[in-house]
Amino acid sequence: MALLEVRDLRSGYGTGPDILNGVSMNIEEGGSYCIIGPNGAGKSTLLKTIAGLVPTREGEIVFEQNPIDRMRPDRILSLGVCFVPQDRTLFPEMTVKENLRMGAFLERDRQTVNKRLKEVLELFPQLGERSGQLAQTMSGGEQQMLAMARALMIRPRLMMIDEPSLGLAPQITDMIFGIIRTLRDEMGITTVLVEQNVRRGLEVTEEALVMDLGTTRFTGRSNQIANDPRIRDLYMGKLATGGADG
Ligand SMILES: Nc1ncnc2c1ncn2[C@@H]1O[C@H](COP(=O)(O)OP(=O)(O)OP(=O)(O)O)[C@@H](O)[C@H]1O
Ligand SMILES: [Mg+2]
Repeated sequence: MALLEVRDLRSGYGTGPDILNGVSMNIEEGGSYCIIGPNGAGKSTLLKTIAGLVPTREGEIVFEQNPIDRMRPDRILSLGVCFVPQDRTLFPEMTVKENLRMGAFLERDRQTVNKRLKEVLELFPQLGERSGQLAQTMSGGEQQMLAMARALMIRPRLMMIDEPSLGLAPQITDMIFGIIRTLRDEMGITTVLVEQNVRRGLEVTEEALVMDLGTTRFTGRSNQIANDPRIRDLYMGKLATGGADG
């Protein structure tokens, strides 16, 4: 039984065309997944649809046997499905600590919130040193850490992170990927990443999904996908037009 099952999913924005054209995937409990694919393939739309931020038009999304495709985003979050978006959306005029407390808005018990805050700051000591600093004044890497830390305040079962390395220096990227590994290996959180840095994304995950034009083109073990000649073909067009590395 998969933790999350996506079946023949179609979704899109407003009255526009379908962006997802029938995506299916299974996310197993405790696994780590990387979703790759060219720009505009629908990777972010897939995560946003699972999180309830883009409405499902057809198909099903089932989390632990609960259909979530008609649920409000806050209900989906309360089940432990959390999403760190590509733009990291923090509360810019709140401090680090205030942002973290907002992450636990569903939790009413003060002691639990304090305990989680302590745990999260142990995982991200750099944030502890800056707990009174306004989020908007943090560096890109610190903002990514804060976005992930805030998501952890709900004790997620499934954590979906869109482009964790976007705009970050290699050293900071290494640190972020290290933390993502810890989430899965030590905290047992199932992780799904979308990554433009295909090589690194496939290195830190076990399973991969390749998307193109709103569907899943291939799935497989990350280390096999990394050496699959079809992947190079898929990215050729993008490389030729000056796209990202990978
Ligand atoms: N808010 C929106 N309103 C209308 N169309 C959108 C919106 N967001 C995304 N799209 C369109 O949906 C398609 C898929 O976009 P999406 O952001 O899911 O791609 P992606 O695979 O995440 O790409 P990237 O690698 O560039 O982040 C694109 O054609 C995009 O223009
Ligand atoms: Mg995207």
